[in-house]
Amino acid sequence: MKILFAASEIYPLIKTGGLADVAGALPVALRKKGHDVKLIMPAYRGILEKVAPIQNTINLGNPFGVGDLILLETCIPENNIPVWLVQCQALYERDDGPYVDKQGIDFTDNHVRFAALSWAAARLACDGELTQWQADILHLNDWQTGFAAAYLESWKVDHPPIVTTVHNLRYNGSFDMDQFSDLHLSSELLSLHGMEFYGRFSGLKAGLVYADAITTVSPTYAREILTPEYGDGLDGTLRAMQTKLIGILNGVDYDQWSPEKDAHIAHQYSANTLGQKQANKLALLQENHLSEDITFPLFGVVSRLTEQKGLDLILEAMPALLQKGARLVVLGAGDASLETRYLQLQEQYPTQVAVRIGYFEDYSHRIQAGIDALLIPSRFEPCGLTQLYALKYGTLPVVRHTGGLADTVFEGGDNPNGFVFHEANKDDLQAAMERTMACFYDTPHWLQKQKNAMQCNHSWDAVTDQWVSLYRSLLNQ
Ligand code: ADP
Ligand code: GLC
Repeated sequence: MKILFAASEIYPLIKTGGLADVAGALPVALRKKGHDVKLIMPAYRGILEKVAPIQNTINLGNPFGVGDLILLETCIPENNIPVWLVQCQALYERDDGPYVDKQGIDFTDNHVRFAALSWAAARLACDGELTQWQADILHLNDWQTGFAAAYLESWKVDHPPIVTTVHNLRYNGSFDMDQFSDLHLSSELLSLHGMEFYGRFSGLKAGLVYADAITTVSPTYAREILTPEYGDGLDGTLRAMQTKLIGILNGVDYDQWSPEKDAHIAHQYSANTLGQKQANKLALLQENHLSEDITFPLFGVVSRLTEQKGLDLILEAMPALLQKGARLVVLGAGDASLETRYLQLQEQYPTQVAVRIGYFEDYSHRIQAGIDALLIPSRFEPCGLTQLYALKYGTLPVVRHTGGLADTVFEGGDNPNGFVFHEANKDDLQAAMERTMACFYDTPHWLQKQKNAMQCNHSWDAVTDQWVSLYRSLLNQ
């Protein structure tokens, strides 16, 4: 099958979160199974230095009046996956992140920036002549590419079946109605059953209503988003389209995330050489100038600092555990007030808490290898990848029972591999962390949990068959 996979971030070209990991790995897994996958994403500043030499250039004209959209055909050198970059200086040549400026504020023209990406994906998908390559499936990801489904609907052209994957319903890509004309879409689409969203218009809703199949990144989240509590205003829409919604759990790229061969960590290890994990722990304590005593449990956080992740609960629960000797290492960036509060915690407990604000891929690996337990108290979590990485590193996840966390981390049952709490409040989290601490001192139990964790297999290989059968079912319809 020929699959055009559209995303706003793709590892290793650009990454702000799990979407990039997925967009960087699922296509590779599909190609390993013999499918012809091509990616499309914006040519943000700096991307051209990370890809192979451009093989082909196609000018798509100036549909948004901000400059020509140029398609650049290249591939990702690390895995040879073909990628179309959409180049447009006015839209993508910026120093900041893909979505926000240095102050963390959304670019005011994001609706046009991602409509342009979507428009290019829609053109490629419906016009095989353009590139001599006709996609069988158009696979969209999140709101930034959802407009593609709207363009195909509005152009009334033949097009391949559309799959829209929801990585996070909270980001619905909704904008003021007075910006709608910037998109050059038919206003017929602005109905309740179209892309209208509470008096605004939404890229994600377009992606949902005009898709042939909707997927989300875990089975539990697929059920949760049908409820008002987790539906972010789209639960009614999703309930009406329930028959085309399924949850397929994300996988892990174990070439990137395996302690046996991780080049970012000082001491590689496996389930049989867990002693080496202790060496990574010591190295992490030393790197952070924390007291070098590995007999205390070391908790860690690697996360975007947002409301979603429930990290305020850790700030409340942590002092009690610090008083019992626990240590904490935090890597994160995002919400300014959370950043400040974490830095204050570090100031209060300089020998026990180390906080680094920013985005550091290498350091995130050293944390996974060096800590004992990873804290993920999310209020909602569509899938979550960091708990899957933690499991592989024999680092036990402490998670709230929601979304993909509920599908992958178990405190009881046959193969307990972590710690789970249910209510998003300080007391429940603190109790779970105290259970974690108690287990840590009960070495045989801890070791057993670590072994169970390391045996979990979340390889993409194992889930790719579900994708292939979904695509096939759409082609057979
Ligand atoms: P989300 O996509 O909601 O942020 P996931 O758990 O799916 O959550 O994926 C997060 C990804 O981003 C993981 O690969 C994680 O290691 C990485 N990550 C998050 N914050 C940082 C950071 N500050 N520095 C480095 N990597 C980070
Ligand atoms: C989103 C979600 C996260 C998920 C990731 C990749 O960012 O917040 O739970 O793992 O997408 O699908």
